Amino acid sequence: MERVRIREYRSEDYHVVRELYTAGFTEKANSLFVHVLTRTWVRLTLLASLLGALVLSGSVLTSLVSAVLLLSATRLATGLLLDGGIQLGLREDLQDIGASYMTPGRLARFWVAEDSGAPGTASVVVGTVGVLPCVTQPGAWELKRISVRRDYRGRGVARALCGAAVGFAARGGARRLVLYTSMLQGDAQRLYLRLGFRKVEEFVWPSLAARLIHFTVFKYGYEVPPRDA
Ligand SMILES: CC(C)(COP(=O)(O)OP(=O)(O)OC[C@H]1O[C@@H](n2cnc3c(N)ncnc32)[C@H](O)[C@@H]1OP(=O)(O)O)[C@@H](O)C(=O)NCCC(=O)NCCS
Repeated sequence: MERVRIREYRSEDYHVVRELYTAGFTEKANSLFVHVLTRTWVRLTLLASLLGALVLSGSVLTSLVSAVLLLSATRLATGLLLDGGIQLGLREDLQDIGASYMTPGRLARFWVAEDSGAPGTASVVVGTVGVLPCVTQPGAWELKRISVRRDYRGRGVARALCGAAVGFAARGGARRLVLYTSMLQGDAQRLYLRLGFRKVEEFVWPSLAARLIHFTVFKYGYEVPPRDA
């Protein structure tokens, strides 16, 4: 953390913030693929296709090739599903970060973690977090878009970012903070538990594709201690 400082978002951070958000999700593509392969109906479909190809062609090689093709198609489909989720976030608050978080007088704010770099090198944004009033739970504030560049993880960057966001919300009168995460984000869930958040709700994301693969979302809550409020 020596050279990394937390500062408020500026308009020139726009692209790197969106890139960090996208990268944080894209890295979960393999986990999502593995999760999809654990679904019984997916396994049965793959098995039925393998056997069907074997019976129709009479060739083990052909049935193996069809199995590989089917697995590749499944991997492609899970990638597209993940990309759909990413695009959703990019079109929401991250479409116009300034308007969503930095409008004066609005109870919202966005921070980045910036590495000032070695002498003579440019500074670089390596982490993000935003906080704003929660739409789904009036009275609570929501932490969003927590992401840290891979090579800066495990050094307390996310803890520092979340500390800035929680402090800001507490000074604004927040008593409760919430955040949403998913079954793909085990590392983030461990972070939230370390920060004092507790899991308060668990549900399958309400879309057909999410229901088919049982894509589970978790809501975490945090009560602001009176000394911080
Ligand atoms: C989750 C994430 C933000 C953590 O960032 P980080 O900078 O590595 O986290 P920190 O170093 O600040 O860790 C803070 C605490 O969380 C714990 N923690 C963080 N990642 C952890 C992991 N993978 N395993 C175990 N504990 C972890 C640390 O042990 C630390 O606890 P401590 O300070 O009491 O020792 C980062 O892994 C990330 O960007 N992941 C991909 C994007 C993502 O999933 N974002 C969440 C969207 S909901």
